[in-house]
Amino acid sequence: MAFARSALLALLGVLLTVLMTVLSPGGTASAQPKVTPKNAPPPGKKSGAGQTAPKAPLITPRSTEPRPSKEGIDFFEKKIRPVLVHNCYKCHSGDPAKAKAHFVLDTYDGLRKGGDSGEVVAPRHPEKSLLIEALKYEGYEMPPEGQLPDEVIADFEKWVEMGVPDPRIGKAANSKNKVDIAEAKRYWAFQTPKAATPVPKVHDSSWPQSDIDRFILARLEHEHLKPARAADPVTLIRRVKFDLVGLPPTPQEIDEFVADKSTDALATVVDRLLASPQFGERWGRHWLDVVRYGESTGKERNVPYRYAWRYRDYVIDAFNTDKPYDKFIVEQLAGDLLIVQNRAEHNKLVIATGFLAIGPKAVNTNNPEQFKVDVIDDQNVDGVFLRFEV
Ligand code: HEC
Repeated sequence: MAFARSALLALLGVLLTVLMTVLSPGGTASAQPKVTPKNAPPPGKKSGAGQTAPKAPLITPRSTEPRPSKEGIDFFEKKIRPVLVHNCYKCHSGDPAKAKAHFVLDTYDGLRKGGDSGEVVAPRHPEKSLLIEALKYEGYEMPPEGQLPDEVIADFEKWVEMGVPDPRIGKAANSKNKVDIAEAKRYWAFQTPKAATPVPKVHDSSWPQSDIDRFILARLEHEHLKPARAADPVTLIRRVKFDLVGLPPTPQEIDEFVADKSTDALATVVDRLLASPQFGERWGRHWLDVVRYGESTGKERNVPYRYAWRYRDYVIDAFNTDKPYDKFIVEQLAGDLLIVQNRAEHNKLVIATGFLAIGPKAVNTNNPEQFKVDVIDDQNVDGVFLRFEV
């Protein structure tokens, strides 16, 4: 109910703004002189008490303000909105006539319009923003129950410095534009993989040893280029070893390879390296990069994850045992829920879900809601598996 009411009010506010913008001379509302805290009424003075009609013009014209950047929106969603919801909505949301100091910050309009003192944020000027003063307990003391942690106040200062980016801007215009589902479905990550292109024909049939070579040669011929000379054995084993395990060959390995005159000398080396535990260490690293593996929380208080290595080893083993990719994904997302034969198997699968637990975490926050949102945000499911950020 409360949500429905505030949503309705927000919509009404937006409609009113649009109307006023359209009706004002010249088509746009004139800029409102900025009220700084210096000439604001003293705290406690209920200058707007009982007043339900908004002061005209409602706010500075929204249409002239650009949409905030993605970085700005991210910052608002991660650092600002949770604090507003958790610490301020109780007294500053819904109907401005009933809100404390007639100030609501659950809508763009309300936040920018301010309350009894007039505007409370001066974009790019935290030092001139009443809202920041209130958070710092200089004059007003907001929230009244107790001052927010320093780093949260610093976030608000940064937010004002950034120009008060607020995705709630321009909601009226946007809400008319329905999401274009057909267009969204064209996103490349949703496309079924294309069938392989047929192997191309080449002029020089003596050079290619495999279909891959035929693809390479076809392109070279198209560009009127000749293939490079085949690598000598020393160069070759060096390349293969770096590719598969990330290390240079030992002198002994080089000697053995050079001495091996059999036709499958290369295959022998490749098989040996693929079977070595270092193969998983080398290639598992790429996955660990994708999931942002680290062995501590990072951020202000860098608390070690003492058992992160268990997840690291799970990834390495997955590569070394050729675990199918679908299984690899399911285990990391929901290993703890899979049906198993015994306890040991269950324990291994729980380690796989380390995927959801690693990653940076701010353990310095006093705001449980913020912490929860941050943890979920850092469970990088969308970025890792779907290649887009939700
Ligand atoms: C428990 C209720 C309560 C909570 C929670 C609360 N406020 Fe307030 N707020 C008030 C009251 C009451 C006033 C009016 C104070 C006065 O007039 O002395 C006020 C005034 C303000 C003003 C001045 C508005 C104006 O135009 O005069 C700002 C800015 C403000 N609050 C910001 C915040 C922010 C930001 C939060 C959350 C971090 C917050 N408040 C949380 C009760 C609250």
